[in-house]
Amino acid sequence: MHTLYVELEERSYPIYIGRDLFAGSDLLSRHIHGRQVAIVSNETVAPLYVQRIRDALGEVDLVSEIVLPDGEQFKTMQTLQLLFDRLLQEGHNRGTTLVAAGGGVVGDIAGFAAASYQRGVNFVQVPTTLLAQVDSSVGGKTGVNHPLGKNMIGAFHQPRCVLIDTDTLHTLPGRELAAGLAEVIKYGLIGDEPFYRWLHEHMAKLLARDQAALAEAIERSCANKAAVVASDEREGGIRAILNLGHTFGHAIETAQGYGEWLHGEAVAAGMCLALRLSAERGWVPEVEVTALRQLLQSMALPTAPPPELAAGKFLELMARDKKVVDGQLRLVLLRGIGEAVIVSDVSSAELMQLLQN
Ligand code: NAD
Ligand code: GLY
Repeated sequence: MHTLYVELEERSYPIYIGRDLFAGSDLLSRHIHGRQVAIVSNETVAPLYVQRIRDALGEVDLVSEIVLPDGEQFKTMQTLQLLFDRLLQEGHNRGTTLVAAGGGVVGDIAGFAAASYQRGVNFVQVPTTLLAQVDSSVGGKTGVNHPLGKNMIGAFHQPRCVLIDTDTLHTLPGRELAAGLAEVIKYGLIGDEPFYRWLHEHMAKLLARDQAALAEAIERSCANKAAVVASDEREGGIRAILNLGHTFGHAIETAQGYGEWLHGEAVAAGMCLALRLSAERGWVPEVEVTALRQLLQSMALPTAPPPELAAGKFLELMARDKKVVDGQLRLVLLRGIGEAVIVSDVSSAELMQLLQN
């Protein structure tokens, strides 16, 4: 097992990465400080992994198992209300700990519930998708979608620990694995060129679920994310680079009403658009745009937005992005591979031309 830390002074916490982390270990129980626990999962993940989490809780007086419907379309205020109903009905007090067991949807909803239930309770992340293991479980962004915009309602609330049992990836569908790898590629592109080159070399092994390659990719992704979060917890500045491709990606997800393309798929198409813009500014050679597209295609990931999404609608949705400041859209581009920059001078005309092409 390897342990990394997200260094945030009194809110610092460990990320444990390894195989079979629950059986006979106190890794989870040492982060449960009260006598009450609510395991929040969904109908797909609960039958697979909740029992082993229950067995690793240690001595507690109350354990609730709250099983949410599965899917991005359920990352809503309505689902959050169901969660609050259960916590109140079953008598959870301010000393309770929520354990989020699932992908990014479960983690984001449970994290937001933990941020706001009785003005804030502890929570632990047990991510079971690759995307959640390398991204959403680390850094304390929590929330739900609104029909008018992705992740529009939420809070920053850091977990007590992140427990990444890489064995959970055995049951993950291949399409979900590839979507998670899109976020892994993001870390290489924004700040770690050697990692990016390594990913090109090892993609076949990663897609074949080679344990050593996956563990390496997860660890390097988490290390990259932890460093960015430690330097800018609340996204006052540099943390925005973690959103490479996301302004485009969120617009795609919102246009589709959530759940058609996976988050990682929308991000893959968004990263291609961001790289294209970077190349047009002469910051990135054309060969890199082609290389990224080929890599994503080899993973069966999209490299362009859905053709039915009209450029005008796309721009309208992008204008609602959380990174818009004083009416000016800010985008993450690359000045080179491994060197992200945040720009606010991309004109509507430039974007329109990009999207129409
Ligand atoms: P997801 O949570 O919908 O999980 C994908 C699917 O895999 C679901 O059907 C789930 O039930 C299933 N699943 C989960 N673990 C499994 C396992 N081990 N075996 C079999 N099936 C399993 O999607 P996701 O890609 O994990 O997360 C996407 C969400 O994360 C989006 O809502 C996105 O906005 C959010 N996100 C948040 C952050 C953040 O910083 N908070 C960062 C990136 C993404
Ligand atoms: N996934 C973007 C962030 O955590 O900031």
